[in-house]
Amino acid sequence: MLVNPNVDRAIEPPIAEAQSWITGRSFPNTKPLINLAQAVPSYPPADSLQDHLAYKATLFETAQYTEIAGIPELRSELSTHMNKIYAGNTTLDNVLISSGCNQAYCLTIMALARAGDEVILAEPYYFNHLMWLEILGIEAKMLPFRHEKGGIPDPSDAAKLITNKTKAIVLITPNNPTGAIYSQEIIAEFYELATERGIALIIDETYKDFLGPIEPHGLFKKERWDQTFIQLYSFSKVFSLTGYRVGSIIGGTKIIQSIIKVIDTLAICAPRISQDAALFGLLNLSNWVSEKQQIIKARCDFVRELFEPGKTEFELVSSGAYFAYIKHPFIAMSARQVAIKLADEANILCLPATFFGSTQERFLRFAFANASIDEMADVKSRLETLS
Ligand SMILES: Cc1ncc(COP(=O)(O)O)c(C=O)c1O
Repeated sequence: MLVNPNVDRAIEPPIAEAQSWITGRSFPNTKPLINLAQAVPSYPPADSLQDHLAYKATLFETAQYTEIAGIPELRSELSTHMNKIYAGNTTLDNVLISSGCNQAYCLTIMALARAGDEVILAEPYYFNHLMWLEILGIEAKMLPFRHEKGGIPDPSDAAKLITNKTKAIVLITPNNPTGAIYSQEIIAEFYELATERGIALIIDETYKDFLGPIEPHGLFKKERWDQTFIQLYSFSKVFSLTGYRVGSIIGGTKIIQSIIKVIDTLAICAPRISQDAALFGLLNLSNWVSEKQQIIKARCDFVRELFEPGKTEFELVSSGAYFAYIKHPFIAMSARQVAIKLADEANILCLPATFFGSTQERFLRFAFANASIDEMADVKSRLETLS
């Protein structure tokens, strides 16, 4: 049997590769493993949410399909939630519930582009975004990494990449892997460019609940936002529900209708219990979310302090939400070699930034949301002992 060559050529799942570097190893109590590889919340979902789902699991309704686009009450509640944050004018007809934000991205790309088309990503990109384009035979065009701008891409670079095959620009803010949070102004410039050139602007806002002091973008306020902008979102991080697989797409009704065809074929609908979880969270967990936001913010502030210029040979390029993007000092080594060195000698598992782009040899990604403040302090002292 021959495998689709597009799938064959796509990169291997990176997190699995990083896990393999520590498989079979045990770690002493004096120097336990600090796992900064995957971006997962370090705390369980709220007790009240778990109780609610235990009750929901007893109902026949929970075992049944929902509407293709998702439970109307959830779509309506999410639309209200976004309108409040972004001063927007979305309605439930703009909302589709997916099985996580990765699926939201895959569905959106399938509805917009086909083999031979082009989609613009920003390097360093989220690896699953590239993998999906590779699998579909869509060409990824890369916005260059702007180290001097803290990793924030430049709209004028995007203008040069757009051709008559381009269907969309994809941005992520707060960003994975860099943690950089894009300003309203930069996002507005990308929006104007996409509108002018008649292509979609897709923004993956998986980490929107961890914006810190940055103002939310103003795109949902634009009169004709639905002609250009598509927002992707995830309930994975905000309610600590990564295993439930639930996310969303907000876009114009036309693109949502197209995406309905795709998800109907792929999944029929997102799992109902997961949609119930998201709805419960939106209705009941704002205080719980605020507490968690404070915890993550404290970790982020602490990481910024730890890596202040002059304090270490490791340079903090950018940080925010769940991530710190670090320039390592080992000029003669590849990022992968450095990450393996950290795993072997410092018992720290992180990702080499080459997982996010071939030009990223000098960088590492630390997903600090997984680690306590004490663990991050330990990370710094372990880095200092490396030679
Ligand atoms: C930028 C980005 N998008 C999407 C996802 C996946 O989200 P979900 O769990 O909702 O599929 C992640 C997870 O790490 C992410 O970092």
